[in-house]
Parts: sequence; C-alpha cells; structure tokens
Amino acid sequence: MSEDKPDLDPQDFSDLRRLGHRMLDDMFDHIAGVRDRPVWQKMPQAARTALRGSLPRGPTPAAEVYDDFAALVRPYSTGNIHPRFMGWVHGGGTAIGMLAELLAGGLNANLGGRDHAPIEVERQVIAWSAEMLGLPAATAGVLVTGTSIANLIGVLVARTAALGPAVRAGGLAGGGLTAYASAGAHGCIPRAMDMAGLGTDSLRLIPCDAAGRIDLPALAERVARDRGEGRHPFLVVGTAGTVDTGAIDDLAGIAALCRAERLWYHVDAAYGALAALSPRLRPLLTGIEQADSVAFDFHKWAQVPYDAGCILVRDPAALTRTFAQQAAYLRREARGLAGGAPWPCDLGPDLSRGFRALKVWMTLRVYGADRLGSVAEICCDVAQALAARVDREPALERLAPVALNIVCFRARVSDEANAAIVADLQEAGIAAPSTTMIGGRLAIRAAIVNHRTRVPDVEALVDAILDNPLLK
Ligand SMILES: Cc1ncc(COP(=O)(O)O)c(C=O)c1O
Repeated sequence: MSEDKPDLDPQDFSDLRRLGHRMLDDMFDHIAGVRDRPVWQKMPQAARTALRGSLPRGPTPAAEVYDDFAALVRPYSTGNIHPRFMGWVHGGGTAIGMLAELLAGGLNANLGGRDHAPIEVERQVIAWSAEMLGLPAATAGVLVTGTSIANLIGVLVARTAALGPAVRAGGLAGGGLTAYASAGAHGCIPRAMDMAGLGTDSLRLIPCDAAGRIDLPALAERVARDRGEGRHPFLVVGTAGTVDTGAIDDLAGIAALCRAERLWYHVDAAYGALAALSPRLRPLLTGIEQADSVAFDFHKWAQVPYDAGCILVRDPAALTRTFAQQAAYLRREARGLAGGAPWPCDLGPDLSRGFRALKVWMTLRVYGADRLGSVAEICCDVAQALAARVDREPALERLAPVALNIVCFRARVSDEANAAIVADLQEAGIAAPSTTMIGGRLAIRAAIVNHRTRVPDVEALVDAILDNPLLK
C-alpha cells in the first residue's frame, strides 16, 4: 500500500548533500570566473537537440541531470552576469542573491497569504522601498515578476480610483478613460492599457523635448483637449529612466499637473528608482516622492537575481479596492495560520506567490542601501566614460544625451552595418550591447547596469567596434 511507497525525499541525504555542495562550489566558480569566459555563446545545435526528448517517465540520477545542466545549459545562458553585457537593461546578479534563492526554495513558502514570517520579510522590503523613494511609511505594495506587471497593476489601480470599485463588476462600459505618457515610455505601458481593457488607443504618447523628457505644455494641452472632447483623463505615467536613452521626465512637473487636474500620477522607474540610493543621483528623481504609485525592479540596478519587480501604492486602500476578494476557501481568521490579514493576495493579481522578498531582503541587508547607490553611481560614471570615448572617435557618433547609464551611438556606416557590428560583438563573445532606433537611425545601445562593469570594459567595446572590418 501507500505506506510502502517512498516520498520524494532521499532515503539518505549524503549523496544529495555532496552533489548540492558541488553545485554550490561550481556556481561560485562560475561567478568568480566570469571575466575569463565569453560574454555569450550561441547554443550549438547539438546541445539544443540533446535537450529535447519526450516526457521522462522514469527517474534519472540527480548527478546525471546536473551534468546535463553543466554541459548544455550553463555555458549558453544570456551572459548578463558578465561585466561586458550591456544589452537591454539587465542586472548582473550576486552570489548572495543566488544563496537567497536556495533558501527560499528550501522553505517553499507561498506568500499569497496566511500568518508566517516570509510575509513579514516582504512587508519589510515594501517599507524599505517606500523609504528609499520618500513615499509615506504606510505605502502598500507587493513584489511581482517585473515592472511590466507592476505597471499593469498601476494602471488597474488608477482605473479603479477613477471609476470606483463598481468597475470591477460592471467593466469599463465605455468610460472614455484616457492616459498619458511620453513617446519614450516603455512598450509595457501600452501593453498594460491593452491588458486592462482600456485599449492602446486610449494612451496618448506625448512628444519629448531634446533631452528625451515629456513635453509638459504638450501634455497639459492634450489633457485639456481630451476633456473638451468629453473624454475622461485619469492617469499620467512619468518615466524615471527611459528604456532607450535613460531620460528622466520632470517628475515634479508631472506631479503638479496631476494634482491640478486630479489625475493619478504613476511613475515607471523600472531601473531608475535605484538612483534614489545615491546622494548624487537622487535629485534627478525629485517629484517621485509625490507619486500615487511607482513601479520598479530589484532585478535591474539592485542586482537581485531574476525575477523581482515591485509596485508601490501610496494609498493602501486604493490597492485593496482594486484587488481584494472574499472567498470562503480563503477566509481570514482572528487566530491560527489563517490570521495575518491583510494578505498579499489582496494587493495584486497573484494568489500563489513565491518568496522573492528573501533575495531582496538579503541583498539590501548584506550590501546596505548606500553600497547599492554607489553601484548606480559607478554605472553612470562608466557610461560617461563611454560617451566621452565615443565623442573622441571620428568614426563614431553619439545619438542621445547621457542622463544616467545608457549610451546610444553608431558607427558612421549604414544601419545594416551597425546591426552587423553588434551581432559580431555578441557572437565573438567580446561584448553584448543591443540596438534601438534613435531619430530614425539604428543605434548601438550600451546600458551599464551590471555592478561588475568598469571603464576598461567599455573601452574594450569601442576598440572592438573600431576593429570591425566594416569600418575599414
Ligand atoms: C523603463 C522600463 N519600463 C519597464 C520595463 C519592463 O521591465 P520588466 O522587464 O522587468 O518587466 C523596462 C525594462 O527594461 C524599462 O526599462
């Protein structure tokens, strides 16, 4: 009978313990030796083929499965732990974050609700986040996968604030809501409008000034025009660090406009939020502390391993009005494990939720907020060094001001040649910038987000570009 059948734990932990220690040592070596490896290697077809197969019906020894991981997966990962990974906006991770993932996996806690310590850890992380950005101590929030979902939550909370909680049952019913963001806003903002049922056409993308910041008079004019035409402006999304160039909107200006116009003021600070920890960079974010809600990531500039996004909402009731539900099977009790209300499942769309907070909590405690602020400063200094080098090279041309940590530039060759140069750099494993379009031209885009990146890394990037035969 079932009593004879073993559970999934090892009968004897000694082999697994040895294997676990080997995994840990190997991953420490992997992180410590990152500079000796190419940034990225394309996965060979043989490795892709070796990963494929039908559902394994029977067991495979854990050591054999780990060997497959070591041979087929580990060498062909994204490469964002490497100091010369500069593509998109990727954090570098830390060994302490990795250990926190191990501990969280061991506890296997579900942070949807109930009365247990992991939720207290998340509450502390939310309180620290509010403190970091200058929001009130009572600010509510939850950790989510990333800023894309955090922005969606921001849009939903703003919608409920505009139309009242009845919208949750009755739907939008042609409410005519219109939202506003700069033309430099991340694509997850229109996607949030889409997913919220508001439609991307209801998002007004306002032009930017030469510095890439939302044009405030144009924003005010568009809000007035929409009101005049009988629509219902409800939300302005400010960006603290645009994805293309790192521009930061005039957040205090947006705050004032939102106050005057009674609009919800949300900030997408996906990576820029961490600038708040640097006394030197903090003034760039002035006005973020007035936000009704802020979305940002710990997996970017805070170097917490993927994934760890965060939504903060100034008025806790606005968040619960948007998400709280009553269900008999989730009854909150005054005592016992079902105590501890309010539960995080009332603050966002997820019911089952992992213990993301542990890796954030451990990162903030082990390094301290000041050290993370200095990581952001170093990244900005490295970006300035890259911009200065680009400006000195006649074969290169800079395409945007460098407000924070992103440098967009191009070689004075065709768009196709610039794209080929980037692919060459990636395939040679020398560096991994990405590309974007700036002013209709293809830009080589270097986002300095990794705490390991230093000036010689960006010098190596430029040297390799200048060495490319397409420039000869
Ligand atoms: C400004 C901005 N907003 C939102 C996002 C999306 O964040 P995530 O990838 O964590 O969903 C990014 C990602 O780079 C970003 O730079």
